[in-house]
Amino acid sequence: MSDAKMPVEPFRIKVVEPIRRTSRRERAAVLKRSGFNVFNIPADKIFIDLLTDSGTSAMSDNQWAGIMLGDESYAGARNYFHFEEAVRSIFGFAHVIPTHQGRAAERILFEAVVKKGDPVPNNIHFDTTRANVEVRGGVPVDLAVEEAYDPRAELPFKGNMDVKKLDRFIRRTGPKKIPLVMMTVTNNSGGGQPASLQNIRQVSEVCRSHGVPFFFDACRFAENAYFIREREKGCAGKTVLEIAREMFACADGATMSAKKDALVNIGGFITLADDDLARCLKNLLIISEGFPTYGGLAGRDLEAMARGLQEVLDENYLEHRVGQVAYLGALLEKSGIPIYKPVGGHAVYILADEFLPHIPRHQYPGWALTVALYREAGIRAVEIGGVMFAKDKSGRGKTAFPKLELVRLSIPRRVYTVSHLNYVAEALAELYRDRDKVRGLRIVEQSPHLRHFTVRMEEI
Ligand code: F0G
Repeated sequence: MSDAKMPVEPFRIKVVEPIRRTSRRERAAVLKRSGFNVFNIPADKIFIDLLTDSGTSAMSDNQWAGIMLGDESYAGARNYFHFEEAVRSIFGFAHVIPTHQGRAAERILFEAVVKKGDPVPNNIHFDTTRANVEVRGGVPVDLAVEEAYDPRAELPFKGNMDVKKLDRFIRRTGPKKIPLVMMTVTNNSGGGQPASLQNIRQVSEVCRSHGVPFFFDACRFAENAYFIREREKGCAGKTVLEIAREMFACADGATMSAKKDALVNIGGFITLADDDLARCLKNLLIISEGFPTYGGLAGRDLEAMARGLQEVLDENYLEHRVGQVAYLGALLEKSGIPIYKPVGGHAVYILADEFLPHIPRHQYPGWALTVALYREAGIRAVEIGGVMFAKDKSGRGKTAFPKLELVRLSIPRRVYTVSHLNYVAEALAELYRDRDKVRGLRIVEQSPHLRHFTVRMEEI
């Protein structure tokens, strides 16, 4: 798995956006001003930005052409119908409700179905999904297979749900108490790992046998479908579109952040079969997002999504996309850098506590790695570890750190070339050789919620 092919770009460059290198001295000053928090760094001070794959895609000439065809009518814009048709042809549900991004879709769906005390199972909730369940007084329950938490288990479908656990959980709780079961594909909070078609079918059967609705968190559905085609027995002869349709045929609906696998910079949607629930969601939508044929977006955004959803299923695109992530992972492994394996669909996750074994967890090795990577090479990555997820942050009690201390290098879609990836791999290899010089950090200022966005730190 460590000898990935060089992913030759299946596109040529028609428009360029300059990026600038800064000096190490400038970056050190920027870090100081930013409280050693890469979220506070102005993006034009960054050379390669791997903070997220969300909303950072490059659109195609075809999508930009569609932007010019935006119909900005308040109601019934023609682009809505293109978008509805594109979503229906892949997802297969009758109702298509646009929202301005993924978390708005989550908020509206949960507002309609989650009541105080209701548990919501998922393989692993993404943060916004978790927060939107909790805001309703619901209880997010993660039921991923055990291997999801083992960064060295080289298995093809570590995004799977533990079906036995799910069945037991539903029986114990009583199916009437559970408003829906969700499944995140690929599993962002678990290394960007895919779920298999077999597992999706089993989850669906369990849900149907108990009469509990089953929804996908479908942000990265095309990457998941591609992994199924590459890895699952009996799927090699199918197209990615056929596999996606089979996945969605197992469910009752989906929420989607179009900022990922619809190849756009803003957008999202809910799609579902149930007429009554759709009516209720549209009423909630009108209060906050807008009329049901635009849902917080411009007509041109809907057109870009419609076209992006078709492009994302192009197998040349997907081979390159997943190939880029695998390629970066293989380069890092060659330098001995510890990473989560196998490499996921949208990001390489570094095991930061192993990369920096001299920095104890309470001095935040993942965070320290993001700071060092920016200072040495102008690269921005994101910590997914102690600063983001530690419990009991008072400093008085015993702090519980999350199991994995990760740094995520997310690859924006169609944005960087092989030489950019080589640059990232070389910078990390150099940093790894000099890792003893990297210092831990302490917190000087923090907020009670989602502290990683605003925390200020100093180096020890
Ligand atoms: N679900 C998953 C699995 C996600 O990864 C995200 C966003 C969302 C829902 C929310 O969508 O941002 O459009 O509101 N993930 C981004 C990331 C932010 O960096 O992984 P959104």
